Amino acid sequence: MKGLKTVYICSECEYLSPKWLGKCPKCNSWNTFVEDVEQVSPPPTAKARTSTIFSGDSRAQSFDELTTSDYIRSETGLSELDRVLGGGLVLGSAVLISGEPGIGKSTLLLQICDTLGAQKKVLYVSGEESSGQIKLRAQRLCVTGKNLYILTETNIEKILSEAKKVSPDVIIVDSVQTMYSDAISSSPGSVSNVKEVALSFISKAKSEGVSVILVGHVNKEGGIAGPKVLEHMVDAVLNFEGDKRQSYRIIRAQKNRFGSTNEIGVFEMTDKGLRQVPNPSEMLLSDRPTDISGNCAVCTIEGTRPIVAEIQALVTQSAFPAPRRTSNGIDYNRTCLILAVLEKRLGLKFSSSDVYLNVIGGLEIDEPASDLGIAMALISSLTDKKIPDDLIAIGEIGLAGECRGISSIEQRVKEAARLGFTTALIPASNASGCPTINGIKIYPVKTIYDVIKFLKNENNK
Ligand SMILES: Nc1ncnc2c1ncn2[C@@H]1O[C@H](COP(=O)(O)OP(=O)(O)OP(=O)(O)O)[C@@H](O)[C@H]1O
Ligand SMILES: [Mg+2]
Ligand SMILES: [Zn+2]
Repeated sequence: MKGLKTVYICSECEYLSPKWLGKCPKCNSWNTFVEDVEQVSPPPTAKARTSTIFSGDSRAQSFDELTTSDYIRSETGLSELDRVLGGGLVLGSAVLISGEPGIGKSTLLLQICDTLGAQKKVLYVSGEESSGQIKLRAQRLCVTGKNLYILTETNIEKILSEAKKVSPDVIIVDSVQTMYSDAISSSPGSVSNVKEVALSFISKAKSEGVSVILVGHVNKEGGIAGPKVLEHMVDAVLNFEGDKRQSYRIIRAQKNRFGSTNEIGVFEMTDKGLRQVPNPSEMLLSDRPTDISGNCAVCTIEGTRPIVAEIQALVTQSAFPAPRRTSNGIDYNRTCLILAVLEKRLGLKFSSSDVYLNVIGGLEIDEPASDLGIAMALISSLTDKKIPDDLIAIGEIGLAGECRGISSIEQRVKEAARLGFTTALIPASNASGCPTINGIKIYPVKTIYDVIKFLKNENNK
């Protein structure tokens, strides 16, 4: 097209370059350049350049002058989602929900229209599906659609003028990558378009008190497609994750200005849509293998909830000079650290073995309290000694091989007891001499030597 020039733009810092670059000279990121077009003449319209989130007061106010307002929250009808949002959808907030294709983003958002629509006006804008398709899905999900307005449109100016007429309390935009603005000449999904579209909706949220939920696609690397500033602009970023071959889905906050980012929401995908899973431990343990070496149950705290999960380790003789180490759901560096401690302190030889670690059920564990369970699963697989199925291991491991005390021990042991576990290995400092907690037999662990002793006794029984 005349007047348009192809440029390459860094999606991290928006550095412009006339040719593609592998490394950004400004922010030093690799592989962040994407194609975009730039208008040569006339220059971008004033509106595109000056649109900002706040149009507000440019006078500085003294701190005493400021008024506060409590967040007004609406329940979405899915308490698992409310929990991640920090207690419901905040009025006038902008939330970005991202996830792999087909994970269930549209399903989730259409489902919440049912409850939200009971008290509020909801405008669902889709640039991905026809209104017929949406209606069919709504019927499958039993969404009645009171106060629900559907708009299939991708031009942001038209959407905003339609939104003026409907004047909704909640706007859902599915997805921000399919929308475009007349003010931007590049194609939908380009860095400048995504930014402009997001800005327009966010400024609507901030100036009119409308809650805006944006759906975001993810790129090949799993990050949110488009400019990095998108994540800075919104109030909350929620990631919808899960293994598509399995039915459970986990939603977690990557950022939240109105609540903690520790909470997770757990769902199961069914033909009636997403079903909430209030007891994730039961689901995670439902198909655990029994009576086999290399498995150990752990308990991690996600936000306010204890969740019991199963760690699975496989240690095999390596055929390579540099043995393989893969870990799924457990931080790779944490895995290496635990392996190093076991090598150094217990003299166990992992250096010539391939090590595979996995958390059953696709949960991601980043709490050090699962160290002890990871170590036990590794030792169990290496030595081929079984760990009893009704045993749970809770504790952090230090570099000297010591087992460190952890928080919320009562809460964890209680959850384990509820699920039928009968023995718990816990840090000696947490045990404080009690033989049982909540009916569970306690085996105090001072250092990882105690684990070896315990496993020897167990397997000689
Ligand atoms: N009839 C059905 N019965 C059961 N599950 C279904 C049915 N139809 C769709 N699904 C589930 O819903 C998923 C698609 O959900 P949805 O369209 O909400 O995903 P999405 O994240 O919006 O995807 P996209 O990024 O492509 O828009 C499918 O992968 C499938 O698991
Ligand atoms: Mg969708
Ligand atoms: Zn850059």
